[in-house]
Amino acid sequence: MKILVIGQGGREHTLVWKLAQSPLVEKIYCTPGNAGISQIAELIPMPDRFTDLADWAESENIALTVVGPEAPLAEGIVDIFHKRGLKAFGPDKRAARLEASKDFAKQLMVKNNIPTAAHRTFVDAEAAMAYIEDHKIPVFVKANGLAAGKGVIPGRTFKQAAQAVTTILVDKAFGEAGNSVVIEEELIGEEASFTVLTDGTHCLPFVSSQDHKMSHDGDTGKNTGGMGAYSPAPVITSELHDYVMQRVVYPTVKGMADIGNPFKGVLYVGLMITDAGPKVLEFNCRFGDPEAQVLLPRLKSDLVPLLMACIDGTLAQHADVEWHDEAAACVVMASGGYPDPYQTGKIITGLEDAATIEGVDVFHAGTKQEGENILTDGGRVLGVTATADGLHDAIQRAYQGVSAIRFADAHFRNDIGYRALGRD
Ligand code: AMP
Ligand code: GLY
Repeated sequence: MKILVIGQGGREHTLVWKLAQSPLVEKIYCTPGNAGISQIAELIPMPDRFTDLADWAESENIALTVVGPEAPLAEGIVDIFHKRGLKAFGPDKRAARLEASKDFAKQLMVKNNIPTAAHRTFVDAEAAMAYIEDHKIPVFVKANGLAAGKGVIPGRTFKQAAQAVTTILVDKAFGEAGNSVVIEEELIGEEASFTVLTDGTHCLPFVSSQDHKMSHDGDTGKNTGGMGAYSPAPVITSELHDYVMQRVVYPTVKGMADIGNPFKGVLYVGLMITDAGPKVLEFNCRFGDPEAQVLLPRLKSDLVPLLMACIDGTLAQHADVEWHDEAAACVVMASGGYPDPYQTGKIITGLEDAATIEGVDVFHAGTKQEGENILTDGGRVLGVTATADGLHDAIQRAYQGVSAIRFADAHFRNDIGYRALGRD
């Protein structure tokens, strides 16, 4: 079969890499893709309209379209493909609200008694300020809509919290995503990501993972899309796994079905493991990036039938999914300055040397091919990923890969996996 993957980051390179291993797959296309993806898939330009992409998919007999990022899902790309009878993996527009509207997600959690931080939603800045003055600091002030991971502002003082409300609701720093704000109490603990595939009824959990959101070592610096990840995440014990499935995952999937919006695709639950148990920080409606880079290499089973089963409602037939025992670690190499403004167009060397290290795969994020050279073309540039027996070795191999690669002003964290290693 022919497959189309939508997106251009490290997550999509990993998806293409995994899909390409399936005996069912004859050819993969990707739009818009990146330099790494172009080595295993044919890149096509992203048309202005999803209907044009659906026309193209129809004419090329694409059997499965896999949507990587949240924005096209929230804009309804899956609805457009399904109307044509084309199979597309990911939630439809209404179900993608679980990520695209924090207020929607909060209401669903409250209604279904799913553990999460106490919150209130406001459209009016004065009412939001009055609420903050009456409540304990710190709070987290969040733009309701999609803001590319930047719409969450911690308010550690009243002044900061008030400024966050102004930034989002009045200055509209995140555009329409800031038409309302969600203000939440602070949760204290260790974060973990919990990823499941679902067909709207049945759920198939992935192995556990954890990413590192802050830009610098020791979780200092600024919030980013993710500077590295590892799997398994020992913080998710088997008791916590069962608790999250019973108290969070199934009630969320059932809650969506109950309101007539069955959620089909990847449900990514961002958790804070507090002293009072795991609580939901956020839902995402797609694989995490860089979590995908450590989850997909650990999946032994063919990914294609699993994605098809999510679309067809037959996931219950795939309970025998197999995993590799090896652990996986991914170190993101970013452009100097990221997540603030950064330069692009730097020549990357050493990619082939890194790929010869046992267990190492280099997934591209912001890269582009220009003549003979591969150049940096984004904030997060590469996800240097390794598998090995045990996390310690996987992390060591990933850093061996990193040291083989060079580009001007490269920035990466030196402590990926420190929490997991600290438990040894
Ligand atoms: P979100 O996009 O909602 O996951 O928020 C981004 C990051 O902000 C999370 O990964 C957490 O590190 C932090 N965060 C968000 N909400 C809270 C909260 N209620 N308590 C503590 N940290 C939070
Ligand atoms: N790594 C966090 C995310 O993909 O949202």
